Amino acid sequence: MSLRPRTSIRSTLSTATEGQRVRLTGWVRNKRVSKNVGFLELNDGSTLANIQLVFGKDDIGTDAAEAVDKGAAIAVEGTLVPSRGKGQPWELKVDSVDIVGACPDDYPLQTKRHSFEFLREKAHLRPRTRTFSAVFRVRNALAAAIHEFFQKREFQWIHTPIIAASDCEGAGELFRVTDLEGGNFFGTESFLTVSGQLNVETFASAFTDVYTFGPTFRAENSNTARHAAEFWMVEPEMAFADLDDLIALAEDFIREVTLSVHERCAEDMAFFDQWVERGVLSRVHDTVTKPFERMTYAEAMDVLMKSGRTFEYKLGQGEELHTEHERFLAEDYVKGPVFITDYPKDQKAFYMRLSDDEQTVAATDLLVPRLGEIIGGSQREERADVLESELVRRGMEVAPYWWYRELRRYGTTPHAGFGLGFERMLMYLTGMSNIRDVIPFPRTPGQADF
Ligand code: 4AD
Ligand code: MG
Repeated sequence: MSLRPRTSIRSTLSTATEGQRVRLTGWVRNKRVSKNVGFLELNDGSTLANIQLVFGKDDIGTDAAEAVDKGAAIAVEGTLVPSRGKGQPWELKVDSVDIVGACPDDYPLQTKRHSFEFLREKAHLRPRTRTFSAVFRVRNALAAAIHEFFQKREFQWIHTPIIAASDCEGAGELFRVTDLEGGNFFGTESFLTVSGQLNVETFASAFTDVYTFGPTFRAENSNTARHAAEFWMVEPEMAFADLDDLIALAEDFIREVTLSVHERCAEDMAFFDQWVERGVLSRVHDTVTKPFERMTYAEAMDVLMKSGRTFEYKLGQGEELHTEHERFLAEDYVKGPVFITDYPKDQKAFYMRLSDDEQTVAATDLLVPRLGEIIGGSQREERADVLESELVRRGMEVAPYWWYRELRRYGTTPHAGFGLGFERMLMYLTGMSNIRDVIPFPRTPGQADF
């Protein structure tokens, strides 16, 4: 027998009128039964709030409620009535209940609170908890906001390949792709992509404004709270654009998607502010209202050297910026998002545009409080000869980049793009402090269960 049509709890609560008949489906979050009345809290993932189901003696009775266990899947029908309890304006007076899937008492989410670590071992059940249902609703809203942002601005979404022929970032953090015999299936070496950038540049050279948005893979053996082996990246690329155009786009982008998620998931965001990280909402407010700052790498290094702080990693012009430095800059010095520009060329990838000083490249990283880098981008080297000599200078094989180099021979343009780590942005928005807790099924060193 069909359990449809059903209404979501979200839409039921937002359009409710007294006496309205509805059929709801979901999982029981809580149960309270006394002699004269039974209450079940029902959730279907559509919203943070549960709806209260009331079983009175006069209708189907408290025995019906008694038979339903926490965690069970049920379908109910009833009438919406104003709620007498606090919290919610409406409750459902139930007159029919169907136990679709029972739930025995070894259900791992029996008790109310669980650590995030415990719930990682229960990745198949954690979407049924408040925190994780909120996280994954925000994840959905952020993905939708990203597409809306670019579509509204006439950027075309390009599906760049997952199986790649080269190491875009040149960092050697590749997963190899072979068939089960370990053979050379494609006739050339092939890998899981670390970035769609090189491929998406070809489309920028035809469509002007494009973006790619999908999974990327890095065999990065750093077991940190901010790195995953499989993560999503959003990479816009604009032809006829320079670094300043790119920075302007990135700032509008972060601001607009933040605003959009906040509007769409107000209830979930309030939950994060109360239970996950106090101050998330004020950070969101600042992100949306205050202009982002900007400084060069040389200025940033100067600030760090004058800060009087002791850091684990060495400071000095030419030294790398590590997470501790990035966090100091965004968290303590600027107290908000900051674009760092003009990095020394040897700290960055081969494709970045060499500046007139011949020492720095037209690169930018966006640093934010708590996380450090969330965006990495640059203007691209559009001059065929400069690109070629950079590949050679780095001792890289020139041949695999033949098509990339041809883009510089046939109608080249100044162009620029960036990559936003989708999970890092989620961490920024929700206050969740481990990347494993914003990915449905995280893949990190030593861990690919589920
Ligand atoms: O700075 P990255 O390496 O830049 C690129 O890949 C460029 N090709 C992007 C472009 O210009 N189109 O990576 C971009 C962002 C980082 O700023 C970070 O937020 C995220 O991707 N990121 C990771 N997120 C989670 N786990 C990892 N292992 C990540 N590595 C990078
Ligand atoms: Mg980077």
